[in-house]
Amino acid sequence: MQFAGQPAYGPSVTAAAKTLRSQVSAILRPNDPSTAARRWRTIHLIVLFTGLLAVILLSVDELPGDRTFLLRGAIWAVTAFFLVEYLVRLWIAPELHQFDEVSSLRARLRWMRTVPGLIGLLAVMPAVMLAGGYAITGADTASVFCILWIMKLGLHAPAFGTLARVISNERAPITSVLIVFAILLMSAATAAHMLEREAQPKAFASLPDAMWWAVVTLTTTGYGDVVPVTAGGRVIGALLMISGIAVLALMTGVLATGFAQEERRREYLRVWDQVSRVPIFSSLGVVTLSEIVGKLRTRYYPARVTVLRRGDPGDSMFFISNGECEVRLPNGAAIRLSDGAFFGEMALLNRQPRTASVATTKPTTMLVLYASDFYEIASHIPALAEAVEKEAKRRREENLERQSGGNRQ
Ligand code: CMP
Repeated sequence: MQFAGQPAYGPSVTAAAKTLRSQVSAILRPNDPSTAARRWRTIHLIVLFTGLLAVILLSVDELPGDRTFLLRGAIWAVTAFFLVEYLVRLWIAPELHQFDEVSSLRARLRWMRTVPGLIGLLAVMPAVMLAGGYAITGADTASVFCILWIMKLGLHAPAFGTLARVISNERAPITSVLIVFAILLMSAATAAHMLEREAQPKAFASLPDAMWWAVVTLTTTGYGDVVPVTAGGRVIGALLMISGIAVLALMTGVLATGFAQEERRREYLRVWDQVSRVPIFSSLGVVTLSEIVGKLRTRYYPARVTVLRRGDPGDSMFFISNGECEVRLPNGAAIRLSDGAFFGEMALLNRQPRTASVATTKPTTMLVLYASDFYEIASHIPALAEAVEKEAKRRREENLERQSGGNRQ
């Protein structure tokens, strides 16, 4: 028997199995930048869309019988895929950091109650129903599965977590806007009920009836099923429409600002994480570094992607935090740059087009510094500017040497 707090693995679970489990866990981790994890997410999305498409097409009554058979087959294949995925996720649950302190069994039970666990279970409902003797036949049943699978798409949206944070951070202004909305709604509904009741006894018979009209008007939806006919009712309607636009604009502003601030905070943390891998920054003090971190952006490039082309105008420079790039010089020579190296500085320093093309050779994470920020930083932090200039000078001389060597041959 295994108790909470005991080591998560029993003696029968070998170290190799543990390693395999942690490797699988890394691949299935959302937002993991590794190639295997990206491939997995792509396959998952393809399967999900295939399943959804099959469900949507199956709802078309005029399809010939053989197509229906094919679509049902696709739906079952997708369901089987999700079932395997669910079981694998259940198996790797003890690897999740939030379950570090509990036994494997408890970790799995707790994972089943998390949002991804519940969504995973909903996605395999067709298999559960089949096991219970329920057959997928009608189009209606198929649409229900469609709704369940679409929820899996939410797990691919990294911004979902951000949205929750934004709503939590901005709850005070969001509540204020909602209160304004409620005040406008109730006042307009009451006024319209009083002014229109006599002229339209059915449409404005009660406050809930008038509130339906007020919601449709305030949100600027305007179905037109209920329309004020008295002069007073129309004035209220006009004011409500204008207020509706203002309230929606206010809500959009609050959410957009919240999103931008949250994204800036997250990017700041991502950059902090990467900046320590670049030696040119390591000698800088925390205050100076924090100034630079605010100006850097993280970018991920897959392997064999051209980052910049010779002759293009230079608007940024790049620091490789993880990966490898190849500088392709005009004379055909290729120079490899790996973790900690930088490139793209020559065009910024000389204010001239790019002297070479640069492409990734491996999946690479880089920090990007835009020209305007580079000039600002260079004026504040002379040590950094000098280090970049020194390396640019060395590279220029090296290129000239290569060129003259090439010409002599
Ligand atoms: P830039 O000219 O802006 O764009 C191409 C970049 O390739 C260049 O800046 C340098 O950062 C880089 N580069 C050019 N020559 C060399 C070299 N000899 N060694 C390493 N990097 C180079």
